[in-house]
Amino acid sequence: MAILVTGGAGYIGSHTVLTLLERGDDVVVIDNLSNASRTSLDRVAELTGRVPTVYIADVLDRQALKIIFADHNITDVIHFAGLKSVSESINEPLAYYQNNVTGTLVLLDEMQAAGVNRFIFSSSATVYGDPQSVPLSEHSRTGGTTNPYGTSKLMVEQILADFSRAQPDFRITCLRYFNPVGAHPSGRIGEDPNGIPNNLVPYISQVAIGKLETVSVYGNDYPTPDGTGVRDYIHVMDLATGHLAALDCQNKGAAYKVINLGTGVGYSVINLIEAFEKAAQTKINYQFVNRRPGDIAECWSDPSLAYKELGWKAVYTLDEMMRDTWNWQKNNPNGYSI
Ligand code: NAD
Ligand code: WQD
Repeated sequence: MAILVTGGAGYIGSHTVLTLLERGDDVVVIDNLSNASRTSLDRVAELTGRVPTVYIADVLDRQALKIIFADHNITDVIHFAGLKSVSESINEPLAYYQNNVTGTLVLLDEMQAAGVNRFIFSSSATVYGDPQSVPLSEHSRTGGTTNPYGTSKLMVEQILADFSRAQPDFRITCLRYFNPVGAHPSGRIGEDPNGIPNNLVPYISQVAIGKLETVSVYGNDYPTPDGTGVRDYIHVMDLATGHLAALDCQNKGAAYKVINLGTGVGYSVINLIEAFEKAAQTKINYQFVNRRPGDIAECWSDPSLAYKELGWKAVYTLDEMMRDTWNWQKNNPNGYSI
């Protein structure tokens, strides 16, 4: 019996693969390495003393999926594979719909052909668009996404809801992540963005290590306590345990579930910079600039359904998130490249 993890060499995938291997599950990974390094999984093997089976292949490749399902007794699929850059999705919408939507359709089709019917999908708080109020519960309105990335996540959720109605034997959980940050406490695996980071925490850590000069804080006139944007940052190791909890509860409750994975606490950009300064014992240069188009003031979760349905809650503090990000950054100044 094995769990198939698509996108398992990536940031959240590699931490989840590690956590699965640590508890004794067998893991098969499919990843096309379009946004990851094979080294992440070598390090997972080094940390756990166990080796996942790895296929360097695309989820759009039906033949590769057929081989995987034929050669392994897969019971569950965790589907991380996809493209995730908001700005890139605006310039390359077809690539985003192809990878994120068609990729999921092909995978579901091949799961069905192979008789595998337990599926966990990486969704995102982005499906809530610009929230009418916070905290966001799973009943909050979705829609109003402002970029193809966000729309692709919403489309897949809708496809999964329809598919579940037609195929009641399937067990499907959509996990809506808030803002993943942090790294494994060993400092051996972490987030390794290509080029200049778009996201706040990788940007701050590259300023701390001296690769970038100054953090541009996008807006200080939001209706938030200090005027900067507020988000629900969640440690990637908490996300990993959230996936294990979802796997364990896949046969309980409704056949189709949608669950937030967040901490329930919102922090501002300035809170993050200050927490990082404490962790890295260094000053982070920053300057206020205009708001970033498409950004929202606040986004944080009501995480109570995850506790009720999965018995899971996030345990890492903001200081621990920044400590582990810094530990990863300082030990791997160039990420997985030497
Ligand atoms: P990531 O880019 O590090 O991981 C995605 C992995 O999928 C990469 O290893 C990439 O090489 C692989 N991949 C992409 N397209 C593929 C394809 N067609 N076939 C096979 N492999 C493919 O991203 P991540 O941060 O680990 O995110 C994982 C998932 O979680 C994504 O679906 C993302 O949209 C979602 N998500 C991420 C965040 C975030 O901020 N990191 C927030 C919410 C949701
Ligand atoms: C966080 C806060 C910015 C960079 C994005 C996606 C979302 C999800 C997670 C996948 C905001 C501010 C940022 C910078 C800044 N991904 N900021 N200077 O925008 O909440 O979410 O990643 O599903 O879909 O949209 O994350 O880290 O980019 O920004 O001031 O250089 O930091 O304005 O308030 P975001 P982020």
